Amino acid sequence: MSGQLTLREIKPNFVAEVVGLKANNTLSVQQIKAIKVAWSKYPILIFPDQVFEPTALISFSKQLGELGLDPFVRPLSQHKHVIEVRREARESTPIFGASWHSDWSFQPRPPSGTLLHAKTVPPVGGDTLFGDCHQAFEMLPAKLKTTLTGLSAIHSAAPAYGPRGLFSEDDASRSMKIVISEDAEKTEIHPLVRTHPLSGRKSLFINDVYTLAIVEMEPTKGRALLKYLLQHMTEDAFVHRHKWHPDMLVLWDNRCVVHYADGGYEGHQRIMHRTTLAGERPA
Ligand code: SIN
Repeated sequence: MSGQLTLREIKPNFVAEVVGLKANNTLSVQQIKAIKVAWSKYPILIFPDQVFEPTALISFSKQLGELGLDPFVRPLSQHKHVIEVRREARESTPIFGASWHSDWSFQPRPPSGTLLHAKTVPPVGGDTLFGDCHQAFEMLPAKLKTTLTGLSAIHSAAPAYGPRGLFSEDDASRSMKIVISEDAEKTEIHPLVRTHPLSGRKSLFINDVYTLAIVEMEPTKGRALLKYLLQHMTEDAFVHRHKWHPDMLVLWDNRCVVHYADGGYEGHQRIMHRTTLAGERPA
């Protein structure tokens, strides 16, 4: 028990399941506080059996914080804060989120959290992998940790949503409403190591999709260091493989978690609804 919540730990200090909570009811101030306390210990919280429609997803998300905006995916027509992560059985387009990333890290204030609710889950595959960027940082040699703490990295949406990005090829079979734009070419600089505003823990804040370079290093050396760190962050010891069930909701913390949408469900439909929570400038 944690205050008003019953938690089942799945991976120490990383993943826990919230048992028995019905998040489509209006929750008490104490319950919301207990979720936030649990979330500061477990950056990934799993809420099984949440039968709700977009309105309830929005209402639950809003109880946790201000909603974020999704720049390059058109939201549901009636719900500007909900995007549908959708892939039809016949699709052969690149899978949305199928590289290690944290959501919208190229924004000046990237989202603190993401809520993903499973609508249609394929009978095989379609897992989401989560990497623990706190633990990955903490396990590095002390000298490297000191060096990294003084560095910053350049982030951009261009590799995914720019005119030459992964999703730029027009493909009539794509069911997600992805927006390709010159705006994606903008860049943002964030510290390579950030401190979590609630827990005070440090984490690596880089990812495979949006992190282009290290500001203080010449490009080849910077790329080599990024490659080394990205490999380290996604070693098995730091990764949790999440298996979805219909109506399951997962809340994760983009400030200290990277994630990867796994494939392996060709020939099957997969539909998820997603909201993000507004974040702060990484520091
Ligand atoms: C995402 O990257 O937000 C999507 C994750 C998933 O579909 O599993």
